[in-house]
Amino acid sequence: MMNKNKKKQKKQSKIDFKFMAFFFKIRDKFNPPMRKIEKSEIKLYDHVLDYGCGPGSYSIAAAEIVGSTGKVYAADINPLAIKNVSKKALKKGLQNIEVISTDCNTGLVDNSMDIVICFDVFHGIEDKKSVLKEFHRVLKPNSRLSFDDHHLKENEIISLITAQGLFKLEEKKEKIYIFSKI
Ligand SMILES: C[S@@+](CC[C@H](N)C(=O)[O-])C[C@H]1O[C@@H](n2cnc3c(N)ncnc32)[C@H](O)[C@@H]1O
Repeated sequence: MMNKNKKKQKKQSKIDFKFMAFFFKIRDKFNPPMRKIEKSEIKLYDHVLDYGCGPGSYSIAAAEIVGSTGKVYAADINPLAIKNVSKKALKKGLQNIEVISTDCNTGLVDNSMDIVICFDVFHGIEDKKSVLKEFHRVLKPNSRLSFDDHHLKENEIISLITAQGLFKLEEKKEKIYIFSKI
């Protein structure tokens, strides 16, 4: 679902992606993804969009929580990420993960997601406004965006996410910002 009318955002090279995937394996040993997923309050049956899923640490953890009647949509601009997540899901026998190759538009139904997770992604997105609009479109009324980006300062995060009047800050749990859809 690439947006053909705007300038193409650059994707990571294969070597950069491999390095990132290796680094995240170490990160996940010290900070298990499940902890962050639990703080996001993902529940059984939820429909979750993991936007900018990368190698899929959080998609896999979320899929283990939502169960077979829930669903995780793992979206990324990089085909290597998509391939990686599909491979991991297959290896773990998880049939509740669907991958989406995109730089913005997910093709998901309006008001269909219980939660969007966006971890360590937003700083790198070129068209931030359009991506936020997409999060707002796919989220159910009053549902949440769970957000973390250590590349951005707190005031930057809050102003970027709330500026368009689409989201308001609900709470902060350690480094995770929970915004709700207005
Ligand atoms: C630093 S990684 C984080 C991966 C994952 N969220 C995590 O924390 O393990 C950032 C990911 O965002 C993806 N990304 C960057 N811009 C994007 C965009 N406009 N749309 C979708 N994915 C994007 C990159 O390809 C990369 O896989």
